[in-house]
Amino acid sequence: MYKIEKTDAIADKVYQMWVNAPHVARNAQAGQFLIFRIDENGERIPLTISAVNGDSVRIIFMAVGKTTTHLASLKAGDHILDVAGPLGKPSEIKKFGTCVLVGGGVGTACLPIIARALRNAGNRVIGIIGARNAGLLILEDEMGEVCDELQVSTDDGSRGFHGFAADLLKQTIAKEPVNAVWIIGPTIMMKVTAEVTRPAGIRTFVSLNPIMVDGTGMCGSCRVTVGGETRFACVDGPEFDAHQVDFNGLMQRM
Ligand code: FES
Repeated sequence: MYKIEKTDAIADKVYQMWVNAPHVARNAQAGQFLIFRIDENGERIPLTISAVNGDSVRIIFMAVGKTTTHLASLKAGDHILDVAGPLGKPSEIKKFGTCVLVGGGVGTACLPIIARALRNAGNRVIGIIGARNAGLLILEDEMGEVCDELQVSTDDGSRGFHGFAADLLKQTIAKEPVNAVWIIGPTIMMKVTAEVTRPAGIRTFVSLNPIMVDGTGMCGSCRVTVGGETRFACVDGPEFDAHQVDFNGLMQRM
């Protein structure tokens, strides 16, 4: 059993939860995820590890279905039955130079741990976070702390730049040399935003979130086509070369 240390709402229907899971916390690296099951009858839900502090890991989720709504109803002191992880391959962390991390909606949850790792590796890190409106923006303060520079966009202009994160990425690339980009958000946002970096041939990573069941490469439910080959997001990813991913196939499967 895994104790919930702390939980609170950070945006409309979006929650952050710290869970005591020493075996995950001690081994977690940027880009990896965990799979939890609330109780014996619960479904298995994959979530990216958003931060680590001592023996606890932070997950961030939107309460949209039965399980995430149930999870959102739990309080500090309650327990989760299973937490498996860390799963998946870590992000490719090395000295690239200037890196831009682009987060869309709840996808921003994945970015702080990657930003910290990239900065520790000597990179300059620019964050771009976007959401439909100001009420759905998350982790603005934290991203401001872990990035050298932070830009914010909302689709409706209620905060920051009026437009899409992809527009800000386009402006940034036009202004200065960029060596690597991470884009994490809804699948359609990743597909569209990846086209911004394709013409310049900038190394671009996306973190895919297909349906997962076992998370260990056994069931095949998370298969995606990358560079014409079938890959399993849970063991070969979740991060892949954005310019090689068959996003249309992924969206059909989802
Ligand atoms: Fe089953 Fe990836 S979740 S193979």
